[in-house]
Amino acid sequence: TSPTEETTPVTHRTPRYDLVSRPRRLRTTPAVRRLAAQTRVHPSDLILPVFVREGLTEPAPLGSMPGVVQHSMDSLRRAAAEVAAKGLGGIMLFGVPAQRDALGSAGCDPEGVLNRALRAVRAEVGDDTVVMADLCLDEFTDHGHCGVLAEDGTVDNDATLEVYGRMAVAQAEAGAHVLGPSGMMDGQVGVIRAALDEAGRPDVAVLAYSAKYSSAFYGPFREAVDSQLQGDRRTYQMDPANRREALHELQLDLDEGADMVMVKPAMSYLDILRDVAEVSPVPVSAYQISGEYAMIEAAAANGWIDRRAAVQESVLSIRRAGADSVLTYFAVELADWFREENGLS
Ligand code: PBG
Repeated sequence: TSPTEETTPVTHRTPRYDLVSRPRRLRTTPAVRRLAAQTRVHPSDLILPVFVREGLTEPAPLGSMPGVVQHSMDSLRRAAAEVAAKGLGGIMLFGVPAQRDALGSAGCDPEGVLNRALRAVRAEVGDDTVVMADLCLDEFTDHGHCGVLAEDGTVDNDATLEVYGRMAVAQAEAGAHVLGPSGMMDGQVGVIRAALDEAGRPDVAVLAYSAKYSSAFYGPFREAVDSQLQGDRRTYQMDPANRREALHELQLDLDEGADMVMVKPAMSYLDILRDVAEVSPVPVSAYQISGEYAMIEAAAANGWIDRRAAVQESVLSIRRAGADSVLTYFAVELADWFREENGLS
Protein backbone atom coordinates (compact mmCIF):
# COMPACT_ATOMS: atom_id res chain seq x y z
CA THR A 1 0.00 0.00 0.00
CA SER A 2 1.20 3.50 -0.70
CA PRO A 3 2.21 5.73 2.20
CA THR A 4 -0.26 8.43 1.07
CA GLU A 5 -3.23 6.16 1.56
CA GLU A 6 -5.65 7.30 4.27
CA THR A 7 -6.82 4.75 6.75
CA THR A 8 -9.78 5.30 9.03
CA PRO A 9 -8.81 4.65 12.65
CA VAL A 10 -10.83 1.82 14.09
CA THR A 11 -12.93 3.15 16.94
CA HIS A 12 -15.85 1.69 18.85
CA ARG A 13 -18.62 4.19 19.25
CA THR A 14 -22.19 3.49 20.29
CA PRO A 15 -24.29 3.93 17.16
CA ARG A 16 -26.77 6.77 17.32
CA TYR A 17 -28.85 5.44 14.45
CA ASP A 18 -30.07 1.94 13.90
CA LEU A 19 -28.93 1.60 10.28
CA VAL A 20 -29.54 -1.73 8.57
CA SER A 21 -26.68 -1.26 6.19
CA ARG A 22 -23.35 0.50 6.64
CA PRO A 23 -21.42 0.16 3.38
CA ARG A 24 -18.51 2.05 4.95
CA ARG A 25 -17.57 -1.17 6.79
CA LEU A 26 -16.02 -2.49 3.61
CA ARG A 27 -14.04 0.72 3.11
CA THR A 28 -12.31 0.97 6.47
CA THR A 29 -8.84 -0.37 5.67
CA PRO A 30 -6.73 -0.96 2.58
CA ALA A 31 -6.99 -4.70 3.25
CA VAL A 32 -10.77 -4.80 3.34
CA ARG A 33 -10.98 -2.52 0.32
CA ARG A 34 -8.67 -4.87 -1.55
CA LEU A 35 -10.82 -7.84 -0.57
CA ALA A 36 -14.00 -6.06 -1.66
CA ALA A 37 -12.60 -4.79 -4.97
CA GLN A 38 -14.67 -6.04 -7.89
CA THR A 39 -12.28 -5.11 -10.69
CA ARG A 40 -8.53 -5.38 -11.10
CA VAL A 41 -6.04 -4.29 -13.71
CA HIS A 42 -3.69 -7.24 -14.06
CA PRO A 43 -0.56 -6.92 -16.26
CA SER A 44 -1.84 -9.71 -18.52
CA ASP A 45 -4.88 -7.57 -19.38
CA LEU A 46 -2.70 -4.83 -20.83
CA ILE A 47 -1.45 -4.32 -24.36
CA LEU A 48 1.28 -1.77 -25.09
CA PRO A 49 1.00 0.12 -28.40
CA VAL A 50 4.43 1.01 -29.85
CA PHE A 51 5.68 3.02 -32.81
CA VAL A 52 8.72 2.09 -34.90
CA ARG A 53 10.16 4.55 -37.38
CA GLU A 54 12.24 3.54 -40.37
CA GLY A 55 15.80 4.85 -40.39
CA LEU A 56 16.06 5.85 -36.73
CA THR A 57 19.23 4.89 -34.88
CA GLU A 58 18.02 6.32 -31.54
CA PRO A 59 14.45 6.48 -30.19
CA ALA A 60 12.79 9.87 -30.87
CA PRO A 61 10.57 11.40 -28.15
CA LEU A 62 7.07 12.59 -29.11
CA GLY A 63 6.24 16.16 -28.06
CA SER A 64 2.51 15.55 -27.68
CA MET A 65 2.95 12.26 -25.83
CA PRO A 66 5.56 12.83 -23.10
CA GLY A 67 7.21 9.53 -22.18
CA VAL A 68 6.31 7.84 -25.51
CA VAL A 69 8.85 7.48 -28.32
CA GLN A 70 9.15 6.47 -31.92
CA HIS A 71 11.41 3.44 -31.63
CA SER A 72 14.44 2.45 -33.62
CA MET A 73 14.62 -1.27 -34.48
CA ASP A 74 17.01 -1.79 -31.55
CA SER A 75 15.00 0.10 -28.96
CA LEU A 76 11.82 -1.64 -30.20
CA ARG A 77 13.42 -5.02 -29.59
CA ARG A 78 14.33 -3.98 -26.05
CA ALA A 79 10.79 -2.64 -25.45
CA ALA A 80 9.32 -5.94 -26.64
CA ALA A 81 11.61 -7.91 -24.34
CA GLU A 82 10.44 -5.74 -21.44
CA VAL A 83 6.77 -6.31 -22.34
CA ALA A 84 7.36 -10.07 -22.26
CA ALA A 85 9.45 -9.95 -19.06
CA LYS A 86 6.80 -7.93 -17.24
CA GLY A 87 4.05 -10.33 -18.21
CA LEU A 88 1.96 -7.92 -20.25
CA GLY A 89 -0.76 -9.35 -22.44
CA GLY A 90 0.71 -8.14 -25.68
CA ILE A 91 2.35 -5.50 -27.81
CA MET A 92 0.69 -3.71 -30.76
CA LEU A 93 3.04 -2.42 -33.47
CA PHE A 94 2.59 0.67 -35.64
CA GLY A 95 5.10 1.43 -38.40
CA VAL A 96 6.28 4.81 -39.66
CA PRO A 97 7.83 4.37 -43.13
CA ALA A 98 10.46 6.61 -44.72
CA GLN A 99 8.64 6.66 -48.08
CA ARG A 100 4.92 6.85 -48.70
CA ASP A 101 2.83 6.50 -51.84
CA ALA A 102 -0.81 6.69 -52.89
CA LEU A 103 -1.36 2.94 -52.45
CA GLY A 104 0.52 2.54 -49.17
CA SER A 105 2.77 -0.06 -50.81
CA ALA A 106 5.21 -0.28 -47.89
CA GLY A 107 2.46 -1.92 -45.83
CA CYS A 108 2.44 -5.03 -48.02
CA ASP A 109 6.20 -5.10 -48.66
CA PRO A 110 7.89 -7.80 -46.55
CA GLU A 111 10.78 -5.35 -46.21
CA GLY A 112 8.48 -2.47 -45.17
CA VAL A 113 9.20 -1.05 -41.71
CA LEU A 114 6.21 -2.64 -39.95
CA ASN A 115 6.83 -6.11 -41.37
CA ARG A 116 10.55 -5.93 -40.55
CA ALA A 117 9.66 -4.78 -37.04
CA LEU A 118 7.21 -7.68 -36.62
CA ARG A 119 9.95 -10.15 -37.58
CA ALA A 120 12.40 -8.54 -35.14
CA VAL A 121 9.90 -8.49 -32.28
CA ARG A 122 8.74 -12.05 -32.88
CA ALA A 123 12.36 -13.24 -32.96
CA GLU A 124 12.89 -11.43 -29.66
CA VAL A 125 9.82 -12.65 -27.74
CA GLY A 126 8.79 -15.85 -29.51
CA ASP A 127 5.47 -16.86 -27.98
CA ASP A 128 6.18 -15.24 -24.58
CA THR A 129 3.82 -12.37 -25.33
CA VAL A 130 1.23 -11.74 -28.02
CA VAL A 131 2.59 -9.85 -31.02
CA MET A 132 -0.04 -7.69 -32.72
CA ALA A 133 0.06 -5.60 -35.89
CA ASP A 134 -1.97 -2.53 -36.78
CA LEU A 135 -3.51 -3.39 -40.13
CA CYS A 136 -4.26 -0.08 -41.81
CA LEU A 137 -2.96 2.07 -44.61
CA ASP A 138 -2.90 5.54 -43.05
CA GLU A 139 0.70 5.26 -41.88
CA PHE A 140 1.76 4.22 -45.38
CA THR A 141 -0.20 6.48 -47.72
CA ASP A 142 1.04 9.89 -48.86
CA HIS A 143 -2.50 11.28 -48.43
CA GLY A 144 -2.85 9.85 -44.91
CA HIS A 145 -6.19 8.11 -45.42
CA CYS A 146 -6.81 4.58 -44.12
CA GLY A 147 -7.53 3.28 -47.63
CA VAL A 148 -6.76 3.87 -51.27
CA LEU A 149 -8.54 6.71 -53.06
CA ALA A 150 -10.93 6.56 -55.98
CA GLU A 151 -10.56 9.08 -58.80
CA ASP A 152 -12.96 11.49 -57.12
CA GLY A 153 -10.78 11.53 -54.01
CA THR A 154 -13.10 9.48 -51.80
CA VAL A 155 -11.82 6.36 -50.03
CA ASP A 156 -12.56 3.32 -52.22
CA ASN A 157 -13.85 0.64 -49.85
CA ASP A 158 -13.51 -2.45 -52.02
CA ALA A 159 -10.19 -1.49 -53.61
CA THR A 160 -8.89 -1.01 -50.06
CA LEU A 161 -10.10 -4.46 -49.00
CA GLU A 162 -7.94 -6.05 -51.67
CA VAL A 163 -4.87 -4.28 -50.26
CA TYR A 164 -5.82 -5.21 -46.68
CA GLY A 165 -5.93 -8.88 -47.70
CA ARG A 166 -2.36 -8.73 -49.02
CA MET A 167 -1.20 -6.73 -46.01
CA ALA A 168 -2.70 -9.34 -43.69
CA VAL A 169 -0.74 -12.14 -45.32
CA ALA A 170 2.49 -10.11 -45.18
CA GLN A 171 1.97 -9.43 -41.46
CA ALA A 172 1.18 -13.06 -40.74
CA GLU A 173 4.32 -14.16 -42.61
CA ALA A 174 6.31 -11.57 -40.62
CA GLY A 175 5.25 -13.25 -37.38
CA ALA A 176 2.21 -11.42 -36.01
CA HIS A 177 -0.01 -13.58 -33.80
CA VAL A 178 -2.92 -11.14 -34.04
CA LEU A 179 -3.89 -8.59 -36.70
CA GLY A 180 -5.77 -5.42 -35.76
CA PRO A 181 -7.61 -3.97 -38.75
CA SER A 182 -8.29 -0.33 -37.77
CA GLY A 183 -9.41 1.22 -41.06
CA MET A 184 -13.19 0.80 -40.61
CA MET A 185 -13.75 -0.38 -44.19
CA ASP A 186 -16.94 -2.42 -44.63
CA GLY A 187 -16.17 -6.12 -44.92
CA GLN A 188 -12.54 -5.83 -43.77
CA VAL A 189 -12.66 -8.63 -41.21
CA GLY A 190 -14.12 -11.14 -43.66
CA VAL A 191 -11.67 -10.33 -46.43
CA ILE A 192 -8.71 -10.53 -44.05
CA ARG A 193 -9.92 -13.83 -42.58
CA ALA A 194 -10.34 -15.32 -46.05
CA ALA A 195 -6.89 -14.09 -47.17
CA LEU A 196 -5.23 -15.59 -44.08
CA ASP A 197 -6.99 -18.92 -44.49
CA GLU A 198 -6.15 -19.08 -48.18
CA ALA A 199 -2.49 -18.35 -47.39
CA GLY A 200 -2.44 -21.30 -44.99
CA ARG A 201 -2.56 -19.14 -41.86
CA PRO A 202 -5.76 -20.11 -40.06
CA ASP A 203 -3.74 -19.79 -36.84
CA VAL A 204 -3.47 -16.00 -37.03
CA ALA A 205 -6.25 -14.20 -35.10
CA VAL A 206 -8.14 -11.01 -35.93
CA LEU A 207 -8.77 -8.35 -33.30
CA ALA A 208 -11.44 -6.28 -35.03
CA TYR A 209 -11.70 -2.57 -34.33
CA SER A 210 -15.47 -3.00 -34.34
CA ALA A 211 -16.63 0.30 -32.95
CA LYS A 212 -14.03 2.87 -33.88
CA TYR A 213 -15.24 6.43 -33.69
CA SER A 214 -14.09 9.49 -35.61
CA SER A 215 -12.49 11.19 -32.63
CA ALA A 216 -10.67 14.46 -31.94
CA PHE A 217 -8.64 12.53 -29.37
CA TYR A 218 -6.49 10.84 -32.04
CA GLY A 219 -4.59 14.15 -32.40
CA PRO A 220 -1.25 13.16 -30.83
CA PHE A 221 -1.22 9.84 -32.76
CA ARG A 222 -1.02 11.82 -35.98
CA GLU A 223 2.31 13.22 -34.77
CA ALA A 224 3.41 9.76 -33.63
CA VAL A 225 2.99 8.31 -37.11
CA ASP A 226 3.90 11.56 -38.89
CA SER A 227 0.48 11.50 -40.59
CA GLN A 228 -0.03 13.36 -43.83
CA LEU A 229 -3.81 13.52 -43.41
CA GLN A 230 -5.68 16.57 -44.69
CA GLY A 231 -9.33 16.63 -43.67
CA ASP A 232 -10.91 13.92 -41.53
CA ARG A 233 -12.04 10.28 -41.46
CA ARG A 234 -15.76 10.85 -41.06
CA THR A 235 -16.73 8.89 -44.18
CA TYR A 236 -15.39 5.67 -42.65
CA GLN A 237 -15.01 6.02 -38.88
CA MET A 238 -18.19 6.10 -36.79
CA ASP A 239 -20.08 9.22 -35.79
CA PRO A 240 -19.64 9.93 -32.04
CA ALA A 241 -23.39 10.58 -31.95
CA ASN A 242 -24.22 6.92 -32.56
CA ARG A 243 -24.71 4.20 -29.98
CA ARG A 244 -26.94 1.61 -31.66
CA GLU A 245 -24.62 1.49 -34.68
CA ALA A 246 -21.84 -0.01 -32.53
CA LEU A 247 -23.87 -3.18 -32.03
CA HIS A 248 -24.44 -3.44 -35.77
CA GLU A 249 -20.70 -3.14 -36.41
CA LEU A 250 -20.08 -5.74 -33.70
CA GLN A 251 -22.54 -8.16 -35.29
CA LEU A 252 -20.97 -7.76 -38.74
CA ASP A 253 -17.46 -8.36 -37.40
CA LEU A 254 -18.59 -11.46 -35.51
CA ASP A 255 -20.33 -12.79 -38.63
CA GLU A 256 -17.11 -12.16 -40.59
CA GLY A 257 -15.07 -14.18 -38.10
CA ALA A 258 -13.59 -11.69 -35.62
CA ASP A 259 -11.77 -13.51 -32.79
CA MET A 260 -11.77 -10.45 -30.52
CA VAL A 261 -13.39 -7.05 -30.82
CA MET A 262 -12.45 -3.54 -29.77
CA VAL A 263 -14.05 -0.24 -28.82
CA LYS A 264 -12.02 2.90 -29.47
CA PRO A 265 -11.51 5.49 -28.02
CA ALA A 266 -12.20 4.33 -24.48
CA MET A 267 -12.88 7.04 -21.93
CA SER A 268 -15.50 9.02 -23.84
CA TYR A 269 -17.10 5.77 -25.03
CA LEU A 270 -17.58 3.75 -21.84
CA ASP A 271 -21.31 3.42 -22.62
CA ILE A 272 -20.47 1.82 -25.96
CA LEU A 273 -17.94 -0.43 -24.27
CA ARG A 274 -20.61 -1.53 -21.78
CA ASP A 275 -23.09 -2.23 -24.59
CA VAL A 276 -20.56 -4.31 -26.51
CA ALA A 277 -19.28 -6.14 -23.42
CA GLU A 278 -22.81 -7.12 -22.44
CA VAL A 279 -23.50 -9.06 -25.63
CA SER A 280 -20.13 -9.98 -27.15
CA PRO A 281 -19.44 -13.73 -27.13
CA VAL A 282 -15.74 -13.00 -27.82
CA PRO A 283 -13.18 -11.06 -25.74
CA VAL A 284 -13.56 -7.28 -25.76
CA SER A 285 -10.68 -4.80 -25.83
CA ALA A 286 -10.72 -1.04 -25.45
CA TYR A 287 -8.05 1.39 -26.66
CA GLN A 288 -7.10 4.29 -24.40
CA ILE A 289 -5.83 6.44 -27.22
CA SER A 290 -3.14 9.07 -27.65
CA GLY A 291 -5.30 12.07 -26.75
CA GLU A 292 -6.54 10.37 -23.60
CA TYR A 293 -2.93 9.72 -22.64
CA ALA A 294 -1.94 13.31 -23.48
CA MET A 295 -4.75 14.82 -21.40
CA ILE A 296 -3.71 12.91 -18.30
CA GLU A 297 -0.02 13.68 -18.82
CA ALA A 298 -0.67 17.39 -19.39
CA ALA A 299 -2.87 17.79 -16.32
CA ALA A 300 -0.40 15.82 -14.20
CA ALA A 301 2.57 17.85 -15.47
CA ASN A 302 0.75 20.97 -14.31
CA GLY A 303 0.21 19.47 -10.89
CA TRP A 304 -3.56 19.54 -11.42
CA ILE A 305 -4.11 15.82 -10.84
CA ASP A 306 -2.20 13.04 -9.10
CA ARG A 307 -0.67 11.23 -12.08
CA ARG A 308 -0.47 7.69 -10.71
CA ALA A 309 -3.93 7.77 -9.17
CA ALA A 310 -5.46 9.26 -12.32
CA VAL A 311 -3.77 6.75 -14.63
CA GLN A 312 -4.87 3.83 -12.47
CA GLU A 313 -8.43 5.12 -12.12
CA SER A 314 -8.73 5.69 -15.87
CA VAL A 315 -7.74 2.15 -16.81
CA LEU A 316 -9.64 0.58 -13.91
CA SER A 317 -12.75 2.38 -15.16
CA ILE A 318 -12.23 1.02 -18.67
CA ARG A 319 -11.98 -2.50 -17.22
CA ARG A 320 -15.03 -1.93 -15.00
CA ALA A 321 -17.06 -0.78 -18.02
CA GLY A 322 -16.42 -4.19 -19.54
CA ALA A 323 -13.06 -4.35 -21.31
CA ASP A 324 -11.32 -7.70 -20.87
CA SER A 325 -8.09 -6.10 -22.08
CA VAL A 326 -6.92 -2.53 -22.54
CA LEU A 327 -4.51 -1.05 -25.04
CA THR A 328 -2.77 1.76 -23.18
CA TYR A 329 0.47 3.69 -23.43
CA PHE A 330 0.63 3.36 -19.62
CA ALA A 331 0.82 -0.46 -19.78
CA VAL A 332 4.38 -0.93 -18.50
CA GLU A 333 3.98 1.47 -15.58
CA LEU A 334 0.62 -0.06 -14.64
CA ALA A 335 2.24 -3.49 -14.54
CA ASP A 336 5.03 -2.15 -12.30
CA TRP A 337 2.51 -0.59 -9.94
CA PHE A 338 0.45 -3.80 -9.86
CA ARG A 339 3.47 -5.80 -8.76
CA GLU A 340 4.46 -3.20 -6.18
CA GLU A 341 0.96 -2.99 -4.71
CA ASN A 342 0.53 -6.75 -4.59
CA GLY A 343 3.88 -7.52 -3.02
CA LEU A 344 5.21 -9.12 -6.19
CA SER A 345 8.20 -6.91 -7.00
C1 PBG B 1 -5.34 4.05 -37.75
C2 PBG B 1 -5.18 4.20 -36.29
C3 PBG B 1 -5.29 5.36 -35.54
C4 PBG B 1 -5.05 5.01 -34.23
C5 PBG B 1 -4.80 3.65 -34.20
N1 PBG B 1 -4.90 3.16 -35.48
C6 PBG B 1 -5.50 6.76 -35.95
C7 PBG B 1 -6.73 7.18 -36.61
O1 PBG B 1 -7.66 6.41 -36.79
O2 PBG B 1 -6.76 8.34 -37.00
C8 PBG B 1 -5.06 5.96 -33.08
C9 PBG B 1 -4.37 5.51 -31.84
C10 PBG B 1 -4.18 6.59 -30.86
O3 PBG B 1 -4.66 7.74 -31.04
O4 PBG B 1 -3.54 6.33 -29.83
N2 PBG B 1 -4.27 3.28 -38.27
